Amino acid sequence: MLNTLPMPAADALHGVMARYAADRCSEKMDLGVGVYRDATGASPIMRAVLKSERAHIAEQTTKRYVSLQGDEHFLTGLQALTFGNAHKNTLAKIQTVGGTGGIYLGIKLAAIANPNITIMIGTPTWPVHFTICDMLGVKTKAFSYFDKTTQTLQFESICDIITGANPDDMIILHGPCHNPSGQDLSKSQFHQILSLCEKHGVIPLIDAAYYGLGADLEEDLKQLSEALFHVPRAMLVMSCSKAFGLYRERTGALFIKAKTPDECGILQKTIEKVARNTYSMPPAHGGAVVGRILTDPELTAEWKAELNQMRQRLEGVRAELIKAARGDARMAGVATQKGIFSLLPISPEDVDKMASDHAIYMPSSGRINIAGFKVGDADRFCDALSRL
Ligand SMILES: Cc1ncc(COP(=O)(O)O)c(C=O)c1O
Repeated sequence: MLNTLPMPAADALHGVMARYAADRCSEKMDLGVGVYRDATGASPIMRAVLKSERAHIAEQTTKRYVSLQGDEHFLTGLQALTFGNAHKNTLAKIQTVGGTGGIYLGIKLAAIANPNITIMIGTPTWPVHFTICDMLGVKTKAFSYFDKTTQTLQFESICDIITGANPDDMIILHGPCHNPSGQDLSKSQFHQILSLCEKHGVIPLIDAAYYGLGADLEEDLKQLSEALFHVPRAMLVMSCSKAFGLYRERTGALFIKAKTPDECGILQKTIEKVARNTYSMPPAHGGAVVGRILTDPELTAEWKAELNQMRQRLEGVRAELIKAARGDARMAGVATQKGIFSLLPISPEDVDKMASDHAIYMPSSGRINIAGFKVGDADRFCDALSRL
């Protein structure tokens, strides 16, 4: 039977990366892959991370398993950073294999609790939201989150899907810096959505991969913490790939807010069982590195300052783009959208022309990585756009 499998559809981004790699133009621009880059185009290891790694390696004496739940300092540190002292007895938590692993475990747990569950997912989104559900055999229902052509958030469509949901269905919401649009819900819209979730018994799963790159770290985390205050039950997945630059170390956490401490105890043991039967223990290195940063005030301060600089760079690039666009309506959303991405209202044919005529590469959706712009790239990009 293994010989009857069809070839899976190629990942759209891999095609863009291959085309970019083959291009010999010295001014080529990679706006595709979603990693943070500095103004020179590099993705260096954060200084606080490097210091923490060195100290960890110097002190490490064993490679024994950590625990099913993961690194204690990592989990308590991330919990304290995000929630302070709140929810102490009603938050189940587990270290996960990146944010992706957290989403996988969260959806798997939800589907065990409710085998008839439907997961509601706003489009466009990070495609893995849909494909994880497909892999798990879980039903999904798409709704419109953002209209790329008009660059507008589809608030009514979000409210409608929740209003029409069954109790114990789940909705995936993005934390700060929506991928791919950069278009976030306002604070008041976020609260309205959560109130609707509570009213209709819908469980929100909040996917936070870009905290610290939106308003600022404190504001971004406050939004996540308040969200969990707002509803009796919810899940929060926090990736450490972007905020700590730990992409390849596969570091993340899943927090599950329960209504009561008893419920929390059951959720804790059940999520550990799900992890045990998926990959067993999480990888140790990234968790240890983040745990050390978050329990050392000096390292914490250094990390926060670096993250703040990353956010400021993204804001600076957005301002440069708006200036260079000279009123081009297609770039208007870039001014107010947040984080690493914006989704331009251009066609796949235009995306192709940007690559073939100007050596500027992005996926066919028109998503651009704001961190992909090096010094001076904004003018060349907007000039190319005006020639389409
Ligand atoms: C919206 C969103 N969620 C989650 C992730 C998960 O990232 P990771 O598995 O690397 O932590 C990403 C990464 O691109 C993302 O964009």
